Amino acid sequence: MPGQVGPVVASAPAKVILFGEHFVVYGVPAIVAAIDLRARARISRRDDELIRIRAPDLGISGSFSQDGHFLPELGREGAEGTLKPIFIAVREVLRSLGVSSGLDVEVRSSIPIAAGLGSSAAVAVSTAAAVHWLLSRRLDRELVFNAALEAEKLVHITPSGVDPAISTYGGLLRYTKGVGIEHLKAPGQLELVVGDTGLKRSTGALVSAVRALRDRRPSRFSSILEAAMELVAEALQALGRGDLEALGELMDVNHGLLCSIGVSNEALDRLVHSARRAGALGAKLTGAGGGGCMIALVEPGMGQDVARAIEEAGGRAFLAKLSLEGVRIEAAP
Ligand code: MEV
Repeated sequence: MPGQVGPVVASAPAKVILFGEHFVVYGVPAIVAAIDLRARARISRRDDELIRIRAPDLGISGSFSQDGHFLPELGREGAEGTLKPIFIAVREVLRSLGVSSGLDVEVRSSIPIAAGLGSSAAVAVSTAAAVHWLLSRRLDRELVFNAALEAEKLVHITPSGVDPAISTYGGLLRYTKGVGIEHLKAPGQLELVVGDTGLKRSTGALVSAVRALRDRRPSRFSSILEAAMELVAEALQALGRGDLEALGELMDVNHGLLCSIGVSNEALDRLVHSARRAGALGAKLTGAGGGGCMIALVEPGMGQDVARAIEEAGGRAFLAKLSLEGVRIEAAP
């Protein structure tokens, strides 16, 4: 087997969805950007066949046998559920290479968890990339995306794939489920403020709630989906023209559509309205909603004012820089 003993370190970025979350699950394209918060995975070989995974930031660790049996170590309560998607990402890469190596995996992340910024996808993507590099000295982005998508199925139940796609490829993308990605050119001055409500939520539960709404009200849901499709088409045109005002307006409309499918809440609405009042060009929730984060598009230089307004309204705010680079190998001695 080619490759090296290790350790290999890979990192992958978080994301914000500018347009199309939830609707992307039903075939509407999403417009999504990678941002400069990253998850890191450090991998080395073991002498046995165990996949030992440590997440020191969360105080949990444990080992999986190659067939997925879990042996807890630290933080027993809930540790298996948190570590399992990481094991799935490893297992998919091992399967694709036809090997059953034992590995030590350590993951760390500066991405808020369960906040709509794609932390689970970034962890799975960086893990898959580091394992693949360790065992084959190659970074095959398609393979990494597919391995992370399998991991995401455990977390998000029926994921569209938008989170692992942006974390793998980086930059600004149009992502269509089952079709793939198209790189978009960002207008130079895309200044975004992220506001975190601090409320954790489950993407899987929110996606399931939207599915239940679709089954209960199919005709209403299909009208909303049509509006979302049109909205994304308009947003793509506005991006192409570099028309920030139109983009902001469309973000407001997108937030309205997300409210109409029940995934916003009072905390998100409060932050969205405070950002608009402080002069944002537009604001909306980002990701699955139900808590987590919102984003505001601002005129260049206005970020601090809007961030302050979000904080005064009870959120934690930061300016997000776009990250052109998706997954990358950080160290492979
Ligand atoms: C989560 O970041 C985005 C959702 O549309 C779910 C998905 O597309 O997998 C809510």
